[in-house]
Amino acid sequence: MIVAYTGSPILGLRGSITVPFSPQKAGPKGLAFFVRESWMRTLVRLVEVRRKHPLIELIVPFLLVNKEDKSKINRDDNAFENALRKSVQGHSYIHWTPVEVIMAAVDWLGTESSNNILDIGSGVGKFCLIGAMNSRAHFIGVETREDLVEQAIDLKKELKLSNANFIHSDIINIDFKDYTSFYFYNPFCEYMALSGGIDDRIKFDEEAFYKYQDYVAEQLKKTPKGTKLVKYCSPDFDISTNFDLTDMYFEGQLQLWIRR
Ligand SMILES: C[S@@+](CC[C@H](N)C(=O)[O-])C[C@H]1O[C@@H](n2cnc3c(N)ncnc32)[C@H](O)[C@@H]1O
Repeated sequence: MIVAYTGSPILGLRGSITVPFSPQKAGPKGLAFFVRESWMRTLVRLVEVRRKHPLIELIVPFLLVNKEDKSKINRDDNAFENALRKSVQGHSYIHWTPVEVIMAAVDWLGTESSNNILDIGSGVGKFCLIGAMNSRAHFIGVETREDLVEQAIDLKKELKLSNANFIHSDIINIDFKDYTSFYFYNPFCEYMALSGGIDDRIKFDEEAFYKYQDYVAEQLKKTPKGTKLVKYCSPDFDISTNFDLTDMYFEGQLQLWIRR
């Protein structure tokens, strides 16, 4: 039995080809065919081998394997990254919340269906999608980049989630009164960064950075007592005049705040 690990940079397919294999029948060359090939070339080679050696059976479970990856996306950061279309891959490490952080945040924010959680700057929807897969709470992501919103909506449909929704908008157009809890992962950091941005659509703009943070702070100030806010990796966003810090995890990066 040979398992050839494959990946398709074009189709986004990842996984393995399992081939019941007899080296005696295929000859020693057969083994070399499976090493470090693109999935397409591997497939072509496997078909060649099969033609020469009809006893070899081919099982090519590309799509099944890809589906398997999807079911893991609520447990594994790499599986989530792999489930994204190529054009929006490559930003997980810096820009999207790690799964274990999402789990801790959602657990504290409240998993009941009456909870409407707003993700301020939702990117490809990772926080909302994984939160929705693991709780009955309702997640709403607001994101300014349209392609990221489209990606989030595609995944929501694929995962058949009814408790996650995405709005393509600037946060400045959103009234926080419709939500019960909030998630804030440094959404405006790109306005203050000279490198490491998602793309070049957001340019360095200190004024915009403070305008957005002030808007969010003003909206949060209007929320009722007891409102929950999770901040992740956002040291410059100070809400301490209206909220109390109740706990911290992940070396202080994940902070749990309650409106006083
Ligand atoms: C650090 S990412 C966090 C993504 C997501 N919350 C997560 O944790 O996986 C911040 C996102 O905020 C978005 N963003 C920046 N400025 C925004 C604005 N004015 N309104 C809405 N979204 C914004 C960015 O495009 C980016 O996708």
